[in-house]
Amino acid sequence: MTTTQDVQALEARHVLQTYKRQPVVFVRGDGTRLYDAEGRAYLDFLSGIGVVVLGHAHPGLAAAIADQANTLIQTSNLYFHPLQGQLAARLAALSGLQRAFFCNSGAEAVEACLKFARRYWFSQGVKDRTGFVALKHGFSGRTMGALSVTSNPGYREPFEPLIPGVTFVSPDDVTALEAAMTDRTAAIIAEPIQGEGGVRPLSPEFAAAIARVTKDTGTLLIADEIQCGLGRTGSAFHYQSLGWSPDLVTVGKAIGSGVPVGAALVAEHVAGKIFAGDHGTTYGGNLLAMRSALYVLEQLTGTTEAVPYAGGGLIGHVREVGAVFGDRLEGLRSKHPVVQGVRGAGVMRGLELSIDAQPVVEGALKAGLIVNRTAERVVRMLPPFTVTVAEIDEAVGILDRVLSDTQA
Ligand SMILES: Cc1ncc(COP(=O)(O)O)c(C=O)c1O
Repeated sequence: MTTTQDVQALEARHVLQTYKRQPVVFVRGDGTRLYDAEGRAYLDFLSGIGVVVLGHAHPGLAAAIADQANTLIQTSNLYFHPLQGQLAARLAALSGLQRAFFCNSGAEAVEACLKFARRYWFSQGVKDRTGFVALKHGFSGRTMGALSVTSNPGYREPFEPLIPGVTFVSPDDVTALEAAMTDRTAAIIAEPIQGEGGVRPLSPEFAAAIARVTKDTGTLLIADEIQCGLGRTGSAFHYQSLGWSPDLVTVGKAIGSGVPVGAALVAEHVAGKIFAGDHGTTYGGNLLAMRSALYVLEQLTGTTEAVPYAGGGLIGHVREVGAVFGDRLEGLRSKHPVVQGVRGAGVMRGLELSIDAQPVVEGALKAGLIVNRTAERVVRMLPPFTVTVAEIDEAVGILDRVLSDTQA
């Protein structure tokens, strides 16, 4: 049998060491549970960093993937196939943005949106409107363009120079936002809830200021919904609860529930300024990805009879269990002085601690609960959308014990 030590030793020799992994090897999953190489069960409250929204080894998704793999996986974007249009239409109905460009990851969706924003101005002869305004604590990915609008200096500095003309403003500072907007700004990019930055929702005032300055100046708004979107907070897209009408929306993570899929959603007035040859990708929109995402969206919205969640599919379920989750975490806050705040919405939650979150994350893992640390002092939780109240109680019970031990 391959042991945890065997796996670690082989990786140490041959896998590029860009990740600092926890010492556990997962080999199997089932719903909200993961199982390690030694057969131990864990409650998964991270779901592959906000990805596996239907839970692990979902039989319906597995059947859809198998059926598609037995039929046709990839044909390239040189030809038509039936599924891209179907998925784009579903996403248009959910978002109000008419068109989709499909890719394979979140960072690629961000790259596409940055290019489309510049192209929008270029097509109108405005060739110097190339800059971006992004937010402090914001994270939009690790490729060169996405990294350019990601604020963490530790991620950025070794790879500079990045794309020029990006200004970062603090999400508390409306005056700085107004000052950052110039006649060279192509677009603002913002996560409605900053995920990697510590599960920080934008304040209603700042969100309203973004809506106002983009409207007043014609600057495009890119809502980065890769982590908070597609039902995670209990609405199809979180920007909808902020009153935004973004011109571009990035989608990733949840859309494939583990199958790599990304999308840039594009409003019609922007789409009209983008032309054949402006962007492309070999795998983007392949049949396996589209079939998986169509299946996921059916589950999210409850558009088939087979969906076991009455009244709005899984998104409705997230609203219900998300409220319970928030209450239970507030309970932890009242009990443990080290918990300073409960952040987020739905099943995107962060516990802000007064101490480094790493010992809590490691203690939870030892106790059979998977969560992670972000922004140093935040315990982040992104369980599958299928999570039950019983599982939430179990997870919060584990955190309760770990927090007691950590403070002792
Ligand atoms: C808000 C946001 N944007 C972009 C990305 C990048 O996505 P990916 O890791 O799929 O490239 C992430 C990933 O965590 C994210 O949370």
